[in-house]
Amino acid sequence: MDILTEIVHAGMWDEDPTGTSSVPLFRGSTFSQEPGAQPRWDYGRSGNPTRAALEQAMAKLEGGCAAYAFSSGIAAVNSVLMMLSTGDHVVVGEDIYGGTYRTLSLLFSRWGLSTTWVDAADLDAVKAAITDKTRAILVESPSNPLLRICDLAAIAALAREKGIQAWTDNTFQTPLLQRPLDLGFHVSIHSATKFLGGHSDVVAGVAVVSEDSIAKELYKIQNGFGAILGPDDSWMVLRGIRTLAARLRMQQEHAMRIATWLDARPEVLAVHYPGLASHPGKDIHDRQTTGPGAVMSFDLGDAHKAEAFLRAVELPLTAVSLGGIETILSWPCRMSHASMPPAERLRRGIGDGLLRLSVGLENPSDLEADFAAAFVR
Ligand SMILES: Cc1ncc(COP(=O)(O)O)c(C=O)c1O
Repeated sequence: MDILTEIVHAGMWDEDPTGTSSVPLFRGSTFSQEPGAQPRWDYGRSGNPTRAALEQAMAKLEGGCAAYAFSSGIAAVNSVLMMLSTGDHVVVGEDIYGGTYRTLSLLFSRWGLSTTWVDAADLDAVKAAITDKTRAILVESPSNPLLRICDLAAIAALAREKGIQAWTDNTFQTPLLQRPLDLGFHVSIHSATKFLGGHSDVVAGVAVVSEDSIAKELYKIQNGFGAILGPDDSWMVLRGIRTLAARLRMQQEHAMRIATWLDARPEVLAVHYPGLASHPGKDIHDRQTTGPGAVMSFDLGDAHKAEAFLRAVELPLTAVSLGGIETILSWPCRMSHASMPPAERLRRGIGDGLLRLSVGLENPSDLEADFAAAFVR
């Protein structure tokens, strides 16, 4: 069935005997057991019917064999990384969520996992970074915060040729716009805090996997490490998913309009948005997705101008995050990518004048008027 239909019916719980329209919220931390029998549910960390409904929905929406829900997007990223061992090596796209950079450079490095950062848009660079210790490639497309595009099918094919895994963080696109497992990826990770939840009122993460052997390994980590998503938050994400298509399609339409408007402003040095014809990765992006999404970044040149603009705008929420129904404006060098040393940020092209914009459901004319006023204030 079409993804629009799948999204609306996501999370209808197969085991429900009542025919309810909404998945029940099971808050119990444990479940009574028949002594000696193998119980379907035994303990809330190991499995919860509400969380399972979300996991099944995400597996279905992204064409995986299973999905696992975690207490945050970064818990999902870290749990996937925990499939690696001391001495292993991972090749990672350099323009990636700052929290993923932090966890790899500050935490996993302590445990002997080594990382090579590459421009994932350069397939030769990805290939050259692979060593005999490499176990996985991790990329984002579009990347965060520069919205760079990499060729997902080519990266997945390279990983498969080398006998390693291909992982991607699909937070910006969601299964509505991009299905990485169909392109050969082994794992697709989401911060469900963003478009899946959709209302900036829940923190959650999901990882969808393509194969039973990976599912087994990731379940072991979900249950063993225990960074599970609670039932209330699972319910919230499921509820968010059911309106994903309506929200994201409209947000994307508004984003296209705002990107075009910003691109024409003399104050803006560059707009990074794969919907614009001038975007260098547009052809590849159009081949692997069904839309440009609702997130962009734009460059005002320096920190002083970026800060002045943030102080002057009235409509957007100035905050860390994206994907809510309200427009969110963030300053990567001071917020999402503050953990990256300035030299590393600059090397990656994340200047102090760069702002990231997640376009919401407001009338874009109001946003344009607010931004226009902020530019002259
Ligand atoms: C692309 C991406 N991945 C992962 C995360 C981490 O998600 P969470 O904040 O839910 O832990 C974020 C958060 O901003 C993100 O933008």
